[in-house]
Amino acid sequence: MDKSIAHIRQEYTQRTLDLGDVHPHPVQQFQQWFQEAIDAQVPEPNAMTLSTISAEGTPSARIVLLKGVEEHTFVFYTNYQSRKGQEMEAHPQVALTFFWPALERQVRVEGTVHKVSEAQSTHYFHSRPRSSQIGAWVSPQSQKIEDRSVLDQRQEAFEKKFAGQTIPKPPYWGGYAVQPHRMEFWQGRPSRLHDRILYTLSGHNQWHRERLAP
Ligand SMILES: Cc1cc2nc3c(=O)[nH]c(=O)nc-3n(C[C@H](O)[C@H](O)[C@H](O)COP(=O)(O)O)c2cc1C
Repeated sequence: MDKSIAHIRQEYTQRTLDLGDVHPHPVQQFQQWFQEAIDAQVPEPNAMTLSTISAEGTPSARIVLLKGVEEHTFVFYTNYQSRKGQEMEAHPQVALTFFWPALERQVRVEGTVHKVSEAQSTHYFHSRPRSSQIGAWVSPQSQKIEDRSVLDQRQEAFEKKFAGQTIPKPPYWGGYAVQPHRMEFWQGRPSRLHDRILYTLSGHNQWHRERLAP
């Protein structure tokens, strides 16, 4: 292995995590840690890896931005026709992973995804900068395009088309909400003996907590 890569190593020493420290509900625990990530000025604390499964059962992962925690679900927005959109159509089971290096913390969320309402997607779409609204029309996300000029031409065409008007939300664009059934909080500790607290859903909104070996 490349020696310079093999030598990258971080010792985690800042904090600890115990069963007695955490909230009974994992989403409340997430909200506390998320606020701490904001306070610590973690760059893009809402960036999370979204893992999906294809119709054939193979995994794929990419970063998306968390846009809200609503009624104990994790909400993000994307193109429903994208690769991830098609994969979630076939398999609504997904995983989300957050890594906040400045706090030496990871959060893992596993759950089932559903689309948010058209009204909610439309409301959020119109809160985005106008250039991002145009971008949603311009990009046939995940499809092959010949070169960059395809995007430039489409951008110009949509800017002309919607000049002076409210831009409608594309019908293929909107939000997903992940309803968790398993969540894990990981706090880095010295000697790779990290703290891990796992929550599993054991009944209606009843969560069971246990410690896992690192
Ligand atoms: C920091 C960051 C934030 C991103 N946020 C989003 C997002 O909120 N929604 C989205 O569709 N893609 C987002 N992307 C792009 C995705 O990672 C990905 O390239 C795109 O959604 C296409 O993925 P797919 O082909 O697997 O569907 C983001 C990428 C990065 C690096």
